Amino acid sequence: MLIEIKPEQLRVGMYVHSLDLSWYNHPFWRRRFLINNEADLSTLLSLGTRVIVIDDSKGLGPQPRHDPVPDVASAPEKADFAHFDVNPATPKPAPKTPVPNGPDSKPVPLVGAAREAEMQRASKMLHRSKTEVMTLFGNARMGKSISTRKITNLVAQISDSVTKDPSIILNVARLKTKDEYTFLHSVSVCALMINLGRKLGLDEVVVQDLGMAGMLHDLGKMTIPDVILNKPAKLDEEEWRIVRSHPEKGHAILSSAKCGTETALDVCLNHHEKMDGTGYPNKIKGEDLSLAARMAAICDVYDAITSQRSYNAPLSGAVALSKMLSWKGHFDQTLLRSFIESLGISPIGTVVQLTDGTFAIVTGENPEDFSQPIVRTFHDPENPDSSISKDIRISRIEGTVQVREIIYDLTPELAEKAQALSVFVS
Ligand SMILES: [Fe+2]
Ligand SMILES: [Fe+2]
Repeated sequence: MLIEIKPEQLRVGMYVHSLDLSWYNHPFWRRRFLINNEADLSTLLSLGTRVIVIDDSKGLGPQPRHDPVPDVASAPEKADFAHFDVNPATPKPAPKTPVPNGPDSKPVPLVGAAREAEMQRASKMLHRSKTEVMTLFGNARMGKSISTRKITNLVAQISDSVTKDPSIILNVARLKTKDEYTFLHSVSVCALMINLGRKLGLDEVVVQDLGMAGMLHDLGKMTIPDVILNKPAKLDEEEWRIVRSHPEKGHAILSSAKCGTETALDVCLNHHEKMDGTGYPNKIKGEDLSLAARMAAICDVYDAITSQRSYNAPLSGAVALSKMLSWKGHFDQTLLRSFIESLGISPIGTVVQLTDGTFAIVTGENPEDFSQPIVRTFHDPENPDSSISKDIRISRIEGTVQVREIIYDLTPELAEKAQALSVFVS
């Protein structure tokens, strides 16, 4: 249940649902979070928030009225709330009432005629919008002040489609020809930002803002000659320098056209920065990058490497995510895991636990349903000494074994058994 409380009622172990602050103005990058310790509580109290909404189904509730409000020093020990989501690796308790497309929900794909109808609707909507939006992008490039009403409208329609089934818009936007790459890549990054924002439990206003930022992130590419953008070979040094100028050019265009929000400006400039400070244009390190920029870095690369580009064949989702997990220092790893969950895809090489309790390695993709993996089992906790190695083609057929969760932090025993299979483990 959501309960509104005053700051003096806050205590360690409460789950904060929302604050009366812009998410930019507080250091907790998750809009919803558990107060894990005294330091988090003190930071929260120092923000000057007047009203806090807590969720007592996920953490401690307020003290009964006749109880004195505890001061920080008398807050409960960590052990008192150890069963809540203190450790992100600990499986979360199931929410009492799942929220559609909320942080704890899994994508529920449309099937059959409903899926076909939504694919056609999304395809027509994007086809209608393409010319309008590209004209607006062109106007912005000329330094003209433009109305973002049409882009806002498109972002709302993409958001609507993501609510129904996130895979629809991504599938429609996946097959990009050279001339529509920039537009459909913007659509995909918009959809991925919206989907990830919802997975993180961000407010819907923030989610729409992130969608708009995704839509505008590569505006600077409008200034790059097509002969470079579509070159069917590796770029030379000078061509790379020109391509790498697009974040700053896009930021300048958005600033002068006065059509970008704070988030859009930030994402436009910083979506090619990396967590280890080796990105461009300013080599900003992870701790100085906003949540929006770190999200955009993931969404941007995922769409680029799963799309047909000038000289690279597209990767499947499971292979792309596997590669992204292996690029240490590039992405925010916690966010990347949330992103993977938001897509419902198991990257190749990861260890998963199945719904029957056994552990398995993802070895491939089910050719009949690419969002589902082929796995090889290697450990059954019920019979730890038995040696099981069985290939299973996971499908969405009801009553069959499914992937329960991806296990990133393996125990030494699991790691040893997984490696014994001689299969690459990320
Ligand atoms: Fe870019
Ligand atoms: Fe991009």
